[in-house]
Amino acid sequence: MRIDIITVLPELLKSPFEASILKRAIDKGLVEVHLHQLRDYTSNKYKQVDDYQFGGGAGMVLMIEPIEKCINGLKAERQYDEVIYMTPDGETFNQRIANELSLKGNIIILCGHYKGVDQRVRDLFITKEISIGDYVLSGGELAAAVVSDAIIRLLPGVLNDETSALTDTFQDNLLAPPVYTRPADYNGYKVPEILTTGNFPKIEKWREEQALKRTKERRPDLLDQ
Ligand code: ADE
Repeated sequence: MRIDIITVLPELLKSPFEASILKRAIDKGLVEVHLHQLRDYTSNKYKQVDDYQFGGGAGMVLMIEPIEKCINGLKAERQYDEVIYMTPDGETFNQRIANELSLKGNIIILCGHYKGVDQRVRDLFITKEISIGDYVLSGGELAAAVVSDAIIRLLPGVLNDETSALTDTFQDNLLAPPVYTRPADYNGYKVPEILTTGNFPKIEKWREEQALKRTKERRPDLLDQ
């Protein structure tokens, strides 16, 4: 898989891919992540990528020209399955969308900034608009990092234990059950006894019950889906 991220702030997106699981996925060649500075695609000498909005109103808008140049330049090199725009008015991101995107070959992610992008960019180039929640970030960069992380960890071979993504919270619309590690008794606070018995069928049943209980208590809406 290849993820191309278009942004005016590539420096904001460097570190998430330089540590832990995402770094390992890149080092193993399971994913390529390329950051593109939008200013490199301007034709004006001030490298201006934004302008005032028509009709008046506060806030700048990213212009179509550099975005078109960048996207079309990438598309001339390879096929892309999705061109995603990060925006608070997009579809709310969830595990289902992460699963779907993890099956794609190459994707472009465009990060919005200021008041957003010229609507014609969205009409002409964008195939999917994603929000990571009902709050407004300063730009789409951190949202793009969130989406990339959720996708990359699902790629085959990225997680050490291949089954561990299958037991994540939200897979099967269930929250994950509680987990414990040593010591079995911490100042009298004990690990549930079942987990120390070695009876794996029973442990599995307990985990399923706990997952259901937790989902009922915290996110009953998931059970309706
Ligand atoms: N850009 C600004 N806020 C955002 C959000 N909540 N989700 C995605 N992109 C954004």
